[in-house]
Amino acid sequence: MPHNLEVIILAAGLGTRMKSATIKVLHRAAGRPIIDYVLDLAADVSERPPVVVVGHQREAVQKAIGERARFAVQEQQLGTGHAVMQAARFLEHEDMAGRNVLILSGDVPLTRPETLRGLAAQHDRERNALTLLTMKLEDPGMYGRIVRDRDGAVVRIAEAKDTSAGEKAIDEVNAGIYLFNAADLFANLRNLSTNNAQGEYYLTDLIAMLRDSGKRVGALVAADPIEAIGVNSRGELAVVEAEIQRRVVQRLMTDGVTFRNPNTVVIDSTVSIGADTVVYPFVTLEGNTRIGEGCVIEPGVHLVNTTVGDDVHVKSGTVAEEATIGDEASVGPYAHLRPGTNLGKHVKVGNFVETKKAVFGEGSKASHLSYIGDAEVGANVNIGAGTITCNYDGVRKHKTVLEDGVFIGSDTQLVAPVRVGHGAYVGAGSTITKDVPPDALALSRVPQRNVEGWATKRRAEMAKKKEDGQAK
Ligand code: UD1
Ligand code: MG
Repeated sequence: MPHNLEVIILAAGLGTRMKSATIKVLHRAAGRPIIDYVLDLAADVSERPPVVVVGHQREAVQKAIGERARFAVQEQQLGTGHAVMQAARFLEHEDMAGRNVLILSGDVPLTRPETLRGLAAQHDRERNALTLLTMKLEDPGMYGRIVRDRDGAVVRIAEAKDTSAGEKAIDEVNAGIYLFNAADLFANLRNLSTNNAQGEYYLTDLIAMLRDSGKRVGALVAADPIEAIGVNSRGELAVVEAEIQRRVVQRLMTDGVTFRNPNTVVIDSTVSIGADTVVYPFVTLEGNTRIGEGCVIEPGVHLVNTTVGDDVHVKSGTVAEEATIGDEASVGPYAHLRPGTNLGKHVKVGNFVETKKAVFGEGSKASHLSYIGDAEVGANVNIGAGTITCNYDGVRKHKTVLEDGVFIGSDTQLVAPVRVGHGAYVGAGSTITKDVPPDALALSRVPQRNVEGWATKRRAEMAKKKEDGQAK
């Protein structure tokens, strides 16, 4: 890319066609605000932080972008040309001699850096004052039409709302991505007017102005029109999301991940997955979820901000949020790991087990139907089916500690705060309200009483009642 390239990103417009309370550049695709992808692109082609033009909801936009950019404020949205004027005021303080300015739209997130490098190469080769990116569309819709002369040179851009019927049929449109010589841009900006259908300062009017002053304007037709699609509606947002998903899955497959059916998974662009992991259909992975190597992620699994080690088996229907799962662990089917769950190596959390703020040491198991919350579970602990930590007294949460090697019989209630010492056993069906010393057996259930012959007697009574009834 040209040395000392300045990047301007236009992001002040609300995006009325989104029908949203949220400004369109903050709508999310594959887990990130769409402007993030444009910032990535800017960082890829220039070391200098871009100038982002903000207006609508500017506090929210500035907060989302943070340190990654400088900001120019456009108080009133008087058009794309007016937006660039605000950024120019910002840059004119600097020595711009011989520099280039790349203008990107905050709502066009799918452009590849290779395409911008192609644009820059053409700009240099043709010694243009401006080189812009265009695309050919079957339905040119509301995009600006590229008007070329008989020799094929670009002469002007006709905005959709200002076009004649003949121009409306033009299938080559403006992608909204421009590489300008800084001097030519700044010299002409101030001559823009609002003499058009929308009463706005159109950045696109610069093309005709440059041509009229004898400057060269070139255009690169994007090989894949998807690179230039703008998010102006929910429909376009869905197209953009689908394309980012497709790219994410392609990248992961290149890195050695198997997808049984890549068309059914939903994976944020922020997720990482190690080689030789197999992902089944209908899996959703969100946020900063990290999955190691050699894992199996079965159908219907939903992981949010969850870290999964190597060789882990996450079975069908498991839901996890803010959880950590250690190497060689097995989770599910239908386990629910809530925030603060941290499972060590080789842990097994089985079907219909819910955990919250629960740390499990190496090799411990809760295989069936349990709730384990606010708990510290040591290594090699066995938690029987139906065990419940009673962690909440209606006012406060209390902690349960199960030390190493503890065995909890099925259907036990552990009334917190409570501690079971290392190596101790709890008999099935117990309600544990007091600490259990190490290596002890705790039993709290009512002793069993058998009444010999009770059922025989009852059946005889029932039979007699039935007979009496029929006799009446
Ligand atoms: C613009 C182009 C059109 C092109 C299309 C490509 C103009 C006049 N038209 O139309 O030729 O085909 O992009 O996507 O440039 N913005 C501001 N301040 C403003 C107005 C807009 O910052 O006052 C920002 C918007 O937030 C958006 C970008 O500029 O990120 C483009 O604006 P938008 O209103 O979407 O322009 P289009 O109608 O799509
Ligand atoms: Mg647009």
